[in-house]
Amino acid sequence: MTKIVILTGAGISAESGLETFRAEDGLWAQHRVEDVATPEGFARDPRLVVDFYNARRAQAATVAPNPAHQALARLEASFDGEVVLITQNVDDLHEQAGSARVMHMHGALKGALCAACDHRWPAPMVMQPGDPCPACGASAARPDIVWFGEMPYDMEVIFDHLSGADIFVAIGTSGNVYPAAGFVAEARRAGAHTIEFNLERSAVGNQFAEHRTGSASQTVPAWVDEVLRG
Ligand code: APR
Repeated sequence: MTKIVILTGAGISAESGLETFRAEDGLWAQHRVEDVATPEGFARDPRLVVDFYNARRAQAATVAPNPAHQALARLEASFDGEVVLITQNVDDLHEQAGSARVMHMHGALKGALCAACDHRWPAPMVMQPGDPCPACGASAARPDIVWFGEMPYDMEVIFDHLSGADIFVAIGTSGNVYPAAGFVAEARRAGAHTIEFNLERSAVGNQFAEHRTGSASQTVPAWVDEVLRG
């Protein structure tokens, strides 16, 4: 049975209206990563960090999946092999498009985490610093986002999937952040065919056997149609 492992990044949500990180006007041009996406930044100024994610949660609630998200949901529903979807994104556009098996390796805006007892619960639209944990009561609530310097989720399961991949696809990711940027090398070691969907070559573009250059909302549905035609 053919196994397709897919990694998505901010570029797949760009055409839905969410900023990417490293474009000129991207999120990291407007905010300092060390202030809003590290545990140290959160310890230094929890209000700044909580407000950064409140703003992204509010914006994510105003956008909709685009044809690229919808095509991946169609692939998962109709492909006669196995489809594994791993995303670096913290929006829930894949789920809104109908994808059922989504691994959020960098966490999710819809999640809250207790820094004291590791309890997880659905995040309110607006979190406040010091919100109490519903399980242990400590005022240690934080966005359930994996910050720089923290271990992404599901890594063992992800590397297990990569070692069995027949096809590895990366969509809308710049290949700047590990471990995700290393997935293509893992998939190649497993003998997988590798395809990169992007507007341009990513930082690890030379490791992909095939490139589909263009906007994901065009290139991804066309590829899914090809795969489903068999
Ligand atoms: N179609 C296809 N690709 C696109 C599109 C589009 N419409 N728009 C942008 N892209 C591509 C860009 O060319 C770029 O390579 O998407 C990529 C976005 O790169 P980044 O902004 O670096 O986002 P990403 O790769 O997801 O970042 C990875 O870095 O800051 C951390 O945790 C954060 O998950 C994020 C991680």
